[in-house]
Amino acid sequence: SSTALDGALGLIREVPDFPEPGVLFRDISPVLADPAAFRVLVDAMAAGLPAGTDAVVAIEARGFILGAAIAYASGLGLVCVRKPGKLPAVRHRVSYALEYGTATLELPEDTIRAGQRVAIVDDVLATGGTVAATRELVEHAGGIVTGVSVILELAFLKGRDRVPGVDVTALVTT
Ligand code: PRP
Ligand code: HPA
Repeated sequence: SSTALDGALGLIREVPDFPEPGVLFRDISPVLADPAAFRVLVDAMAAGLPAGTDAVVAIEARGFILGAAIAYASGLGLVCVRKPGKLPAVRHRVSYALEYGTATLELPEDTIRAGQRVAIVDDVLATGGTVAATRELVEHAGGIVTGVSVILELAFLKGRDRVPGVDVTALVTT
């Protein structure tokens, strides 16, 4: 029920001044630690996958937790987009700007097939740089992004504007 989902989302902790002063960090750790909350949240994200999705792409590290559970619950395969230096065989690599410095993500070889329809899963959509880079990885391999699914969207950062033409679904927006 929506009450159970609301209860689960209510377990998200707000932590001031992390990772730096002035940032209000949303910590999903208590949601994951609660068995009923974790299940209701994964089930809601799985139920909301766009029709025709045939794989889940999850982003290291917190995206893996959700993506793995959603893929398993949905009978889909899981593609893990990784931070640099972890994969022995890289299909494609994208670097993108952060507030300070850059970040890089890598797509493993032999995961996404041309024409495959994939949904991107992560915990939080903030500036959208991470999801935009992941879209680029998917499309470079010939995949089609059916949608982006997150627990929490920080709407004031306008992250969805970084993935134009892609449907973004959030369980809660702040
Ligand atoms: C966080 C979060 C998203 C990303 C969102 O990951 O899990 O992946 O930042 O930010 P953006 O929309 O501004 O790109 P983080 O880099 O903290 O990594 P982690 O999951 O390994 O903790
Ligand atoms: N919580 C978790 N991950 C994040 C956040 C946040 O508030 N902002 C950017 N990534």
